Amino acid sequence: MSANRTPLGTILVADDNESARDMLEMMLRTHGYRVFSASDGPQALVLLQEQTIDLALIDVVMPGQSGFAVCRAAKDRPETRLTPIVLITGLGRVEDRIRGIEAGADDFLNKPVRKEELLARVKSLVRIKRFTDELESAETVVFTLAASIEAKDPYTEGHCDRLSRYSVALAERLGLSVEEHIALRRGGVVHDIGKVVVPERVLLKPGPLDAHERELMEAHPVIGERICAPLKSFRQVLPIIRWHHERQDGSGYPDHLKGDQIPLPARILQTVDIYDALTTDRPYRKALSSERAFAILHDEARRGWWDGALVNEFEKLLKESPEAWAEEPAVPLLGFSYSSIRRSRDCLTPSKEPREAVITRSAKNV
Ligand SMILES: [Fe+2]
Repeated sequence: MSANRTPLGTILVADDNESARDMLEMMLRTHGYRVFSASDGPQALVLLQEQTIDLALIDVVMPGQSGFAVCRAAKDRPETRLTPIVLITGLGRVEDRIRGIEAGADDFLNKPVRKEELLARVKSLVRIKRFTDELESAETVVFTLAASIEAKDPYTEGHCDRLSRYSVALAERLGLSVEEHIALRRGGVVHDIGKVVVPERVLLKPGPLDAHERELMEAHPVIGERICAPLKSFRQVLPIIRWHHERQDGSGYPDHLKGDQIPLPARILQTVDIYDALTTDRPYRKALSSERAFAILHDEARRGWWDGALVNEFEKLLKESPEAWAEEPAVPLLGFSYSSIRRSRDCLTPSKEPREAVITRSAKNV
């Protein structure tokens, strides 16, 4: 590679065998890649953490920390979770592949490493990493925008995170898919992103909204859906954003859906959203107790607004595991790979927001 050419990617090579390491390094450098090399696991983890690495090639057999352990550690860290890792194993060792998959490896190379196979694998994984980086940047913008809206109202601080956690805990209890857990994790955070177009005087108004203000406020689900629609990774989040203010009897907005027409994840989010709004301090009243909040939710479910079965399940969940929402979410918020989905199958998660006209009204009526 000439000195002034932009590298095709930055690769980490970790192998305790110096000649094997040098050979990989030479092949990669010759074909335009920048290379960092490590002679053991701890050094590899430091480089993964400190450098911007597009792909790591890690030998399985290293003294001290094995390639599996390095892979598992890297995939457990949020900053390196999305870095592709290729484990280099002995030819035909099926048990290595199984252990590698369990450790979160993205691919494997057999020893002895063939140049053509190495370069094809590296090229393909670096390209995927580039797409992941772009996607992650777009998602970050969306989450940052959502956080900035939440920050406008000091009374809603932490609401998104709690909502996200409550929603995933309830989704787990109901046996929803991992993909739906991820959608709720994200939906909890971004479902009110459309409020970016609602002026602060309306957003923070303590009294009832007039007709025009209500119109502005009620546009936020559709605006939010529009903002997030270009992100393919948010496809399952869009119904949550659009329909989190619908009601069972069709009196909600924007589409006046009824009953099961409202997707279950959207009903989950609205249930925990109202509960969280009722149990936190507002400018016009102190936080209500959990018992009082559920009494209101049951009453409003009987009136035909909310899904009574979900309110029951959520109440049982909080009675059985009152601190479930406080656990660290296992479903990732930013970007995810198939391996991270596999690892997230055993976990719980997160949440967000309030102070809609409806919520405000029910909270003020107590
Ligand atoms: Fe909302």
